[in-house]
Formats: sequence, C-alpha cells, structure tokens
Amino acid sequence: MINVIGLGYIGLPTALMFAKNGMNVVGTDCNESLINSLKEGKLPFQEEGLQELFKQAIDNGIEFTTEYQKADTYIITVPTPYIKDSKKLDRRYLISAINSVLDVCKKGSVLIIESTMSPGTTDKYIRPEIESRGFIIGQDVHLVHAPERIMPGKMIYELEYNARTIGADDPEIGDYVKKLYSSFCKSEIILTDIKTAELSKVIENTYRDVNIAFANELAKICRRNNIDVYEVIKIANKHPRVNILQPGPGVGGHCISVDPWFLVGDYPDLTNLILTARKINDSMPSYVLRRIRDIMREHNINDLSKVGLYGLTYKENVDDVRESPTLQLLRIMDEHLAFGIKVFDPFVKRKLVDHQFMSFRDFINEIELIVIMVGHDHIKENMELIKDKLILDTRNICPFSNAYKL
Ligand SMILES: NC(=O)c1ccc[n+]([C@@H]2O[C@H](COP(=O)([O-])OP(=O)(O)OC[C@H]3O[C@@H](n4cnc5c(N)ncnc54)[C@H](O)[C@@H]3O)[C@@H](O)[C@H]2O)c1
Repeated sequence: MINVIGLGYIGLPTALMFAKNGMNVVGTDCNESLINSLKEGKLPFQEEGLQELFKQAIDNGIEFTTEYQKADTYIITVPTPYIKDSKKLDRRYLISAINSVLDVCKKGSVLIIESTMSPGTTDKYIRPEIESRGFIIGQDVHLVHAPERIMPGKMIYELEYNARTIGADDPEIGDYVKKLYSSFCKSEIILTDIKTAELSKVIENTYRDVNIAFANELAKICRRNNIDVYEVIKIANKHPRVNILQPGPGVGGHCISVDPWFLVGDYPDLTNLILTARKINDSMPSYVLRRIRDIMREHNINDLSKVGLYGLTYKENVDDVRESPTLQLLRIMDEHLAFGIKVFDPFVKRKLVDHQFMSFRDFINEIELIVIMVGHDHIKENMELIKDKLILDTRNICPFSNAYKL
C-alpha cells in the first residue's frame, strides 16, 4: 500500500494517479476539513483533468484520512517554504511528517520524499532525525528523494509525460521506486543519488528564475531606449543557442520564487548571480507600479479607483495565488498608503483583497486603466470588451497597438 502524506497541489494528483493505475493508495493530510471535503467528493482546487482522475481513483478504491497508515511505501508531499529572514528551508513540515511516518511504518518501508528540499537537507537533517529515533537507514527504512516538477495548469498531463528523477541510497530500492512511477510515467526516469536529486530540482527552478531576471532587466533597458523588448527577444532567440524567456510583472508561485532562496540561504558567499536575479524579479511589481503611475500622469487620472488589476494568480489559467506578483504589488501599495485600486480574477472565487470584483463587467465598467497582470485565456477571449480602455499589458497578450507594455 502507498500512503501519500500531504494532499495539496502535488500530493493529491499524485495519489489519484497511482490509484487510477491500480495501486492501493491511502491519502493522508493533517487538514481535517480538506479530508472531509475529499470524502464528500469535493476537490480543493481546479486543474484540467483532475475531476475525471478523481472519479477514476475513487472507483479504484482510494481512501482519504487524517491518520498515517501502516504501509510499505510512503510518498511525502508536504510544504517546504523558506524562512523569510534567513532564506533557509523551513523543515518543520517535513520533519513532522517523517516522524509521524516513523511512528507507524512497517520494517523495511520506503520513504519517498517528493517535496523540494534545499541541497544537503537529507544528510544534514533527515538522516540524523531518523537515526535519533533508533531506526537504521537501509534496514528499518529506506530513503528516496523523487522531486516533482509538474506545473499547475498542466499537472495531469505532466505527471504522465515529464521525465522524473529518483535519488536513492540503494540502487535496488531506486529500481523499486522507478517501477512504481513507471505505472503512469511514460517518460524517462533517471536514477541517481539523493544529493544530486536534491540539487538538480532546485537548480531547474533557479535556472528559470535567472533567465526571467535577464528578460526583466532587458525590459527595463528597452523601456529606457524605447525599444520593443519582445521583438528584441524574438530576434535573439532565432540564434540557435539562445533561449531567453519572457519578461513579466514578477515571479510568483511555490517553486521559482522560492527554491533559489535555498541556495542563497545556504551559500551566501557563492550565489551573487542567483541573489541578484531574485532581487530583479522581486523588483518587478514596483516597476509595474511606476508604469501605472506614469500612465496615470500622462492621462490625468488622479484616482486609483479608476485603475484595475486583472489577475490575482501567479500564472495563467490556474487559481493558485501563492506569492503572486499582484499580491506583491498590492502589498507595496498598502505600505505606501495607496488604496482603492480595483482587482478581478476569473479563477479566484473567494474574496482575498479589498476592492475585489466577482463580475468582470462590473470591474471594467468602473475603471479607465486596466493592468493585465495575468494572461488568462479569459482576458484573451474578452479583449473586445476592454478595447476602449487604457491598457497596461505586462504579459504581451494584447493585440491593440496602443496598449502600453512593461
Ligand atoms: N505546487 C507546485 O506547483 C509544486 C511543483 C513542484 C514541486 N512542489 C513541491 O511540492 C511540495 C508540496 O507542495 P504543494 O504545492 O503540494 O503544497 P500544498 O501546500 O498545496 O499542500 C501541502 C499539504 O500538506 C499538508 N500537510 C502539511 N504538513 C503535514 C503533515 N505533517 N502531515 C500531513 N499533511 C501535512 C497540508 O495540509 C497541505 O494540504 C513542496 O515541497 C513544493 O515545493 C510544488
């Protein structure tokens, strides 16, 4: 039996996918109301294909509980945020989940950690924690790190088609875990050691963060010189060995804006480039704010309530708002006592911020300047409705030639 621990954005689809493919799965989460909802057949977030997968997993007997199970295999997918001050990994959830697993696990069980960890976490903290409980690693329990790289919005597809990395102490255990994931993963599964798996996961997101920071810096250079940054990047990317990502209003989410901090926190003397990239990306919401101010001045708009931010999530076509650029921007405005800006996101059905609208038409009726912070399909399909507004398009999705860009 597989016991999946932590049924969030990663754990839930993973548990369902294993169950759909014939494994005996129990999903455990400490959040009682989440478990009750799942038992009532309600999903905690939207994701393409998730409802169908949920049904198939239920048909195959998946169960949900707050109790840790006596299983032979555990998949741990609990949060791994960073501590804001030290920038180091906050290990509390991970250590707590591991201890709860050790309380119940069978001898010889396999603990697969999918959560992203700062490189070295297993050696520095997880092994000592397990050993302090009197367990011999390699006999009583086996350790594996199988970091996840799926992307919200395409999670179900990517679970099946992304290549995976499995870091294991013991090649035989690595093979066992590889077979397990092969039940649904149709792509390459690479076996390596745990340290390498830890670092490779973190640098994938760090690579993207640095590349986006480069694009954002280019956007600022182009703005000063009145050059179209998107055109510049498009041309540069025709070079066979150049692949610059797109600039944007900032970087959010649970991965790209978080994982580089693990490296900065652990190696402050070695991470100049990575730290600078983080700072550039974190500066983008302020940069957007200055663009808003300039456009307001140009058009004699004195009242922030005439301005609307479109999009609250950190990326398009999902409902995940964690660390989103719009929330970062609203925080900065709040610190400067700048109140009244209006907000709308078609994916966010609960009220999260002041002046948040639930109706798109009401939202656009009240504003003169719309700032596209997220490129949801919804706004692409409703461009006609905003064609008479002033538009600041931070995602380069608006076809109108008079739209302002980053
Ligand atoms: N969300 C993503 O896009 C993404 C992508 C790749 C990797 N990751 C990594 O996957 C891990 C999980 O992220 P997520 O987005 O699924 O987090 P999440 O916050 O959506 O879900 C985590 C779940 O774990 C539960 N939980 C916390 N402590 C627990 C405990 N001790 N026992 C049982 N349940 C516990 C919480 O109640 C929550 O439901 C993180 O390390 C993250 O960095 C996330």
